Amino acid sequence: MARDQKDHYYRRAKEEGYRARSAYKLQQINQKFHLIKRGDAVVDLGAAPGGWLQIVRKLSCGKVVGVDLEDIEPISGVIILKADLTKNSTIDLVRESLEGKADVVISDAAPNLTGAWDLDHARSIDLARSALGMAISLLKPRGNFLVKVFQGDMFADFISDVHKEFSNVKAYSPPASRKESAETYVVAKKLLSGPVRKGDIREVTIDAIGKSGDGIAMIEGFAVIVKGANLGEKLKIRVNSVKSNFAFADII
Ligand SMILES: C[S@@+](CC[C@H](N)C(=O)[O-])C[C@H]1O[C@@H](n2cnc3c(N)ncnc32)[C@H](O)[C@@H]1O
Repeated sequence: MARDQKDHYYRRAKEEGYRARSAYKLQQINQKFHLIKRGDAVVDLGAAPGGWLQIVRKLSCGKVVGVDLEDIEPISGVIILKADLTKNSTIDLVRESLEGKADVVISDAAPNLTGAWDLDHARSIDLARSALGMAISLLKPRGNFLVKVFQGDMFADFISDVHKEFSNVKAYSPPASRKESAETYVVAKKLLSGPVRKGDIREVTIDAIGKSGDGIAMIEGFAVIVKGANLGEKLKIRVNSVKSNFAFADII
């Protein structure tokens, strides 16, 4: 079954002129989650040999930047950078190429596998954390992020850190991933740009009462809805859920 599946996508990639069978993974993920739209500026990390870049060019006519340690054969309309995604200097290189911020950051980066499972998992998490850092630096508010991770015991902590930064987060394995593979993709939509994160504890004053009757505290111009709070009260609150434009908190 796994081999048939491999052969199917491998043969299709050859027939349809894609550089890697992984092109179908991005296509399937985008069909389900609509991460990339026409006109989006997209950064692809760990992009060699360029299968994802070929798909990105079909989905968007905006600026596209591909980054890899390896050479990538030119693709029309794509800026290619030979750079290490774990280096801070790469953020500046990408920023200069984009001449602005990105709508979407995607990463299919993977370490060279050693076969030692714990080590491969740890190195995959390191790469995914670097990609997350780049996404936070490079994305516009409400931008989208996609990253490959090999599953293992550090996966839960990683996905919970992604949850702190994005409004909507899911793990997904597209049909084109090999059945025996432990890879999964973290799909994160709408980068949060407000001043609070889930779990934050703050001292606030209730500045207004919303239509629902709950209190509203403004933190740096960002509305935090506090259940059961009254106008003018000074309270200690814990943020329990953050959306793009507002957050919910409980009185503690
Ligand atoms: C599975 S391949 C990507 C395939 C690509 N998405 C495609 O469709 O053609 C993983 C890539 O991650 C790259 N990579 C691994 N570590 C990296 C790093 N620190 N910086 C940049 N690229 C890295 C590897 O060189 C490799 O080309």
